[in-house]
Amino acid sequence: MADGKHTRSATLTIEGKEIDLPILSPTVGPDVLDIRKLYAQGNVFTYDPGFTSTASCDSTITYIDGDEGELLYRGYPIEQLAEKSHFLEVCYLLLYGELPDAAQMEDFENRVTRHTMLHEQMQYFFRGFRRDAHPMATMVGVVGAMSAFYHDSTDVNDPWQREVAAIRMIAKMPTIAAWAFKYSVGQPFVYPRNSLDYAGNFLNMCFAVPAEDYVVDPILSRAMDRIMMLHADHEQNASTSTVRLAGSSGANPFACIAAGIACLWGPAHGGANQACLEMLREIGTVDRIPEFIARAKDKDDPFRLMGFGHRVYKNFDPRAKVMKQSADEVLGLLGIKNNETLKVAKELEKIALEDDYFVSKKLYPNVDFYSGIILEAMGFPTSMFTPIFALSRTVGWIAQWKEMIGDPTQKIGRPRQLYVGAPRRDYVEVESR
Ligand code: CMC
Repeated sequence: MADGKHTRSATLTIEGKEIDLPILSPTVGPDVLDIRKLYAQGNVFTYDPGFTSTASCDSTITYIDGDEGELLYRGYPIEQLAEKSHFLEVCYLLLYGELPDAAQMEDFENRVTRHTMLHEQMQYFFRGFRRDAHPMATMVGVVGAMSAFYHDSTDVNDPWQREVAAIRMIAKMPTIAAWAFKYSVGQPFVYPRNSLDYAGNFLNMCFAVPAEDYVVDPILSRAMDRIMMLHADHEQNASTSTVRLAGSSGANPFACIAAGIACLWGPAHGGANQACLEMLREIGTVDRIPEFIARAKDKDDPFRLMGFGHRVYKNFDPRAKVMKQSADEVLGLLGIKNNETLKVAKELEKIALEDDYFVSKKLYPNVDFYSGIILEAMGFPTSMFTPIFALSRTVGWIAQWKEMIGDPTQKIGRPRQLYVGAPRRDYVEVESR
């Protein structure tokens, strides 16, 4: 932990004055300079827009090695979890730090399953939205409103209430996402079914209708479960940092997760899977790919290849590898070969992996490139891609939020700035301007 002992330090000289900065050693990964006393000792701040060189906290949850293309949840490689584990076990691991034994797993599954229904009054809240509202807009609103429905789990200082809020959000998020979808397509809400597993229940709530049964295909529910596992956490990304920052003021957990959902919505973050599929559709046919590749390379064109590149992964995205395999399985099962969008995706992937611009800048397909393809094949509209990311990431946000609240050294987040605006000046009456 950051307040532990350190044995090494770096010296910074500012206009002749030497300042010792402790060097903190992580379990794995590069060392971190502790600059907390920098302002007090040197009267300077650091400048780091986008936090590209700044660790905002210490954490025991997730580790990413961007150069090696490695992602660990509590030390376990994502590839092993994707192959051998399942989403609720990963939730347990992220929340409590260790893999559960059989009894702990059963108890956790029971607790989550028993909280999947929403307060009946909440459906009227859904009905207040326009039918054409984006499901992410509905999710931000409904999750934020949970604090108005579940008063008994909003006290952040009570560990039991924090636990109940965590279970409630993990359990209810699929119901909220599915209902946002159902509302947007004008179909009746489908209630959760406790006999189904977490992913299967979500598919059922999305695709069942009262007029006929929906049989959950095990390959599709496994693929959905994998999408959930692969998106479950990703250390201090934009939405997680948003959740931590919101939580640092003592805001209730539902409000904090709603803030995370809002941040995730952006096309540079969780919105990339929707943006990627829309881009593939815009490209339309394989022969138009070179035109879009040229646009992505053009410095004067803001266009970027959606689903390519990552702030941290500069080798490959390990989640994308697993997701690609799932995409092949799902497309094989559904017998989808001649879908033009998917043809464009395959060809674009091939061209970009060979193109010097993308190779030299280490721009590889990321997780969103393949997840969009799978979700499209499953029958989800693009507007549901980011809500599915949000429901999968909820456990990561909660684990990070709980870690922060339980940390005795935690302070309200309050970055400083490099002010470059007007210096002090006097007010001028309107007639004299
Ligand atoms: N297409 C074309 N050029 C790109 C792309 C792209 N997708 N991504 C980065 N570049 C170029 C960029 O123009 C820059 O070139 P130069 O050095 O000549 O100025 C260079 O690569 C480095 O880019 P950057 O913007 O400094 O990198 P970043 O770390 O700030 O951005 C990113 C990371 C994910 C926002 C960016 O790669 C991007 O916008 N990708 C498309 C959106 C996307 O797929 N996002 C999902 C990320 S994975 C899921 C998640 O974390 O939510």
